[in-house]
Amino acid sequence: MKYMVTGGAGFIGANFVYYMLEKHPDAQIVCLDLLTYAGNLHTLEKAMESPNFQFVHGDIADRGCVFPLFEKEKPDYVVNFAAESHVDRSIKNPGVFLQTNIIGTQVLMDACREYGIKRFHQVSTDEVYGDLPIDRPDLMFTEQSPIHTSSPYSASKASADLIALAYYRTFGLPVTLSRCSNNYGPFQFPEKLIPLMIARALADESLPVYGTGANVRDWLYVTDHCAAIDLIVSNGREGEVYNIGGHNERTNLQVVHAVLEGLGKPESLIHYVTDRPGHDLRYAINPAKIEAELGWSPTRHFEEGIRSTVAWYVENREWWERIISGEYQEYYEKMYKNR
Ligand code: NAD
Ligand code: DAU
Repeated sequence: MKYMVTGGAGFIGANFVYYMLEKHPDAQIVCLDLLTYAGNLHTLEKAMESPNFQFVHGDIADRGCVFPLFEKEKPDYVVNFAAESHVDRSIKNPGVFLQTNIIGTQVLMDACREYGIKRFHQVSTDEVYGDLPIDRPDLMFTEQSPIHTSSPYSASKASADLIALAYYRTFGLPVTLSRCSNNYGPFQFPEKLIPLMIARALADESLPVYGTGANVRDWLYVTDHCAAIDLIVSNGREGEVYNIGGHNERTNLQVVHAVLEGLGKPESLIHYVTDRPGHDLRYAINPAKIEAELGWSPTRHFEEGIRSTVAWYVENREWWERIISGEYQEYYEKMYKNR
């Protein structure tokens, strides 16, 4: 079986590549990635040693790249992780989110139609459902929750979801979708909450918490997400959406405290900054469907997962220190100055 994994040089895609190489030693993996600021070939160094893995540099939105690649490789399965994924960047510059997340998904599905595949899996997000009130812990997102997006990022992901479902209904393309909550673990780019806080706390720099820090996210260890996608791709029903979540809601402040505790750093590093425009209040996933249909459930408890994630960043300083030099410095200045 041959898998095309797009966006495999990013956080979740790379974890998926390693998960699949271990879990399915016979599977061939072709990783297509544009290596944007978020893509990192160092992350894939170990995978490159495997004869079952190959890396292709290219843009999912470029037909001239995607079609010949499909013709040559004829993948059985396509798992689309490639995306612009950071909400804050989508607020500064929405255009590229529409191009990659919407047009890129369409180009991939057109290639799937042209060359034939067993499954196209679109990796989506709980953000397509908008947010939930903080004072209604009884409410959670199900697959039936209405699409109600807040940011250009989530609107672009929701658009791609709808187009994927349209390709299923109209053209019979064998599509599945998953909508996952916030992931954490190794190889996450240090612009996202957890790695950003770890990197800054290690340098005794201030930790920028948006608003009051009361916003809630439902955190899932990244390999639990990878396991869920693997199950959906092989056993999920075509045309279906599967929610994936960790039963693990935490306020941002609780997460930052967990990082500080893991590093033995003081609370005085916390610095409250101006809130994100349109900031979603709370996400909470009800994963009952994937649990009942496919027997998936999260395996990693947050307390243990955050400890091992903090330890990973401490032990792999070289990986993220390379990133936070250079262009990243300008990014931090632009996003957080005067905030
Ligand atoms: P990431 O930003 O870490 O990685 C994205 C990868 O896509 C990078 O390697 C980048 O180079 C590549 N890419 C970007 N544009 C491309 C293009 N035009 N062509 C080819 N490659 C391109 O993202 P992530 O956090 O790993 O998220 C992966 C997917 O999972 C995204 O679709 C995201 O919407 C979704 N998701 C993420 C989370 C999360 O918590 N991070 C949760 C749920 C869903
Ligand atoms: O829910 C799934 C989504 O989770 C994915 O679809 C996105 O790709 C992924 O980036 C993530 O989106 P969030 O916006 O929730 O993640 P982020 O790490 O940017 O922020 C998490 C929370 O922390 C959010 O409430 C904003 C807050 N935050 C973030 C940063 C970067 C801060 O308070 N300070 C910060 O500096």
